[in-house]
Amino acid sequence: MQLAERMSRIGIESAFDVLVRARALEAQGRSVIHLEIGEPDFPSPTHVVEAAKTALDQGWTHYGPTQGQPDLREAIAAHISRTRGITVGAQHVCVVPGGKPIIFFPMLALLEPGDEVIYPDPGFPIYESMIRFCGATPVPMPLEESRGFSFDVNRFEDLLSDRTKMVVLNSPQNPTGGVIPREDLEAIAGLLRDRDVVVLSDEIYSEIYYGEPPASITQFPGMLEKTIILDGFSKTYAMTGWRMGYGVMPEWLVDAVNKLMVNSNSCTASFTQRAGIAALTGPRECVDRMVAEFRARRDILVEGLIQVPGFRCPVPGGAFYAFPNVTGTGMSSKDLADLLLYEAGVAGLNGGSFGIYGDGYIRFSYANSQANLREAVARIAKVSSRWAAAVKTTA
Ligand SMILES: Cc1ncc(COP(=O)(O)O)c(C=O)c1O
Repeated sequence: MQLAERMSRIGIESAFDVLVRARALEAQGRSVIHLEIGEPDFPSPTHVVEAAKTALDQGWTHYGPTQGQPDLREAIAAHISRTRGITVGAQHVCVVPGGKPIIFFPMLALLEPGDEVIYPDPGFPIYESMIRFCGATPVPMPLEESRGFSFDVNRFEDLLSDRTKMVVLNSPQNPTGGVIPREDLEAIAGLLRDRDVVVLSDEIYSEIYYGEPPASITQFPGMLEKTIILDGFSKTYAMTGWRMGYGVMPEWLVDAVNKLMVNSNSCTASFTQRAGIAALTGPRECVDRMVAEFRARRDILVEGLIQVPGFRCPVPGGAFYAFPNVTGTGMSSKDLADLLLYEAGVAGLNGGSFGIYGDGYIRFSYANSQANLREAVARIAKVSSRWAAAVKTTA
């Protein structure tokens, strides 16, 4: 039997591959510090877990509305309206199992062969995978380290064409931790306002930031009507395994997303949606505490990494990733990531697995304890003797 041709165009996420290799080392008795996986290491908030238990006891164990329970959609619309300073209603919200379906469904609903999609590179690998899967043409937009991994707006303008159907934005960003400044978003909005282009604004890290709240492109005139906001519960509430996310989108797209949802999932799990209401309307201290802890870890990791010969590391403004430039080591980022895993016992991801413009960088997730981050930095510093001589020679 042969797989359908479209399967040759779908990609994967290398974080899961590296995790498998790291676990194999651990099975041989080696110690590995896991900085490869993109999920908060905190437990889901107690009041959210309790709400799910209560919902199970109350019998929220049946099918529900495809688009999501109305009171959860109300809570999401209120949350998005408040945090983004815009006005959206429950009719704009689609609740789905995780953030990923809000990449999958809108792309399936909108993209056709010949359409071009501009997306950030380095970026979340699922964007390019899904663009190709839909038969559309991926147009990578290089992020600039010197601009805190934001866009060069002139370069962005050059990439726009009559065939551009969609633009993907992600801020705070995976894998760089970059936050797109408000003025860049305003300039991008200015370029897109009069075009027949849909924006997929991946805001899954919207509440994990260390400076000003990240701006959303929906805040600029004319953009709400053509933007899909992707957000969810996975990162903000450490609920990756619950599989619950949502899209906020123009009403004309809701019906198409509902049709894809009814064909694939029927609905998102009913009791988890009750817990989602508790997450959005309950106490916020759990989120504040997690973000404060991430900030402390970020500082430990970045301060450590910038001391490593051949490493350069911008301070990330959001999410929980550091993305050091390692070109100064004279090694490829792929070889260096392997060396760190096998010889130092530190698992990170080759930046090249996030797109060609990620080559020369390594992504470290700081969703790990302060003690482990200190130990990781010490281990990296120890093996740096392997390339330090090369750094001195080129310096
Ligand atoms: C940028 C980005 N978007 C979307 C997702 C998907 O989130 P979820 O686990 O809720 O599907 C992730 C998860 O790593 C992500 O990093």
